[in-house]
Amino acid sequence: MTDSQPGPTIPESDIAEVAAVLRRSARPVVLTGAGVSKESGIPTFRDALDGLWAQYDPEQLATPRAFRRNPKLVWDWYQHRREMLAAARPNPAHRAIAEVETVLPQLVVITQNIDGLHVAAGSSDVIALHGDIRRNKCFDNCQGDPTLVDVAALAWDRDAGPPRCPHCGAWVRPDVVWFEEMLPAAALERAYDLSHSTDVMLVVGTSGVVQPAASLPFAAKQHGATIIEINPEMTSITLIADWHLSGPAGAILPLIVAALRAVPDHPPEGPPDA
Ligand code: APR
Repeated sequence: MTDSQPGPTIPESDIAEVAAVLRRSARPVVLTGAGVSKESGIPTFRDALDGLWAQYDPEQLATPRAFRRNPKLVWDWYQHRREMLAAARPNPAHRAIAEVETVLPQLVVITQNIDGLHVAAGSSDVIALHGDIRRNKCFDNCQGDPTLVDVAALAWDRDAGPPRCPHCGAWVRPDVVWFEEMLPAAALERAYDLSHSTDVMLVVGTSGVVQPAASLPFAAKQHGATIIEINPEMTSITLIADWHLSGPAGAILPLIVAALRAVPDHPPEGPPDA
């Protein structure tokens, strides 16, 4: 493993080698966590427990049981988080990941983030393992999983908490994964399939603590992938990373993209057709 020491810059040779590895990739995958959104000023899940919300424990606000017990409290906390996210924009890290796709169109982004910033930055194939805070759904998924509900089209007393599902009358809830809940099955299955088949996985801004997302780099490694980690800190994933580029994603990823663009097109394999 090559561990670029923290410091003002990552050695150009490391950036060039990582870009060359990425350029040769046939099935590149990026796995991201809260760190990729840090430079967009997104408060982490626990940072959002500020002000009057500081008195609550996440498990009191982000579980199905908490929602059933007090739908208005949970709904109002998510409205508070949506308001904090409203001003957030993609940062250079999100934009760089979207730009990789212009060189490697087969790139897939698997994210643990619920802020929607990868899609906002232009990434076209994003698997949101933990859902998307901008979306809402019927608590009972009465029309199928998920039964998305456009609350902008509903008329309800916003001071009274969440609206009701227009199909079945159940509460409407944020389309995010709560504690004690399973991840969306189709998204998780595709994430595992991609981790088993990828040849290069970029792991950006995740502590590698929360399962099952944290197991994806290990699955990729077991199937022979090259693991490139971008994080100012060492994590459990560092142990299996072929590269650990220590620093903020918003500074490192644009360097990789610039180097990627400088890599000559992959010479055609074998002799030209007769
Ligand atoms: N660039 C890259 N990485 C960064 C940056 C940055 N600018 N700033 C911080 N980091 C790294 C931290 O060092 C840490 O390793 O991002 C990681 C963030 O870790 P967590 O806060 O644990 O976020 P994440 O790994 O995404 O957590 C997974 O836990 O809070 C729940 O459901 C929530 O999806 C979330 C899950």
